[in-house]
Amino acid sequence: MCDEKTLKAQEQIREILEKYQYNPENLISILQEVQGRFGYLSRENLVWIGRGLNISPAKVFGVATFYTQFRLNPIGKHLILLCQGTACHVNGSEKIQKVIEEELHIHEGETTKDGLFTLNNVACLGCCSLSPVMMIGEETYSSLTADKVKKILKNLAEGEGS
Ligand code: FES
Repeated sequence: MCDEKTLKAQEQIREILEKYQYNPENLISILQEVQGRFGYLSRENLVWIGRGLNISPAKVFGVATFYTQFRLNPIGKHLILLCQGTACHVNGSEKIQKVIEEELHIHEGETTKDGLFTLNNVACLGCCSLSPVMMIGEETYSSLTADKVKKILKNLAEGEGS
């Protein structure tokens, strides 16, 4: 069962594998590049990578699930990276997480049904004096409060509707 989209994806994976000379020792770099290209690592893509490298799909899955940098599910249009580093934690990032989860009806690591938002916790974003902090796309939002977060999410969601 190979539609055009599937064939195109296979072709892109082949290109990446060629770049790394089909060498299984480059598996992590290959996974990074495939994720960069597709936004996440689908099951099909992991199987094709395994076939191309002549290693078992189970091994590819094992590596992809071991490292937190890899995503096995598609991410929303707006990826929320909420800092849970020490300074942010002390200044209420857990409460901020709850607010986001309630507003978007998802849990950490999940994507909203409409595909607009994904929430991921991350370690220190490097601007602790402005904690609690989150990043959405290129934008950093600091000194977060419940109201501020609600407003940010509302503005982003409204931006999609117009
Ligand atoms: S702990 Fe959150 S930015 Fe450093």
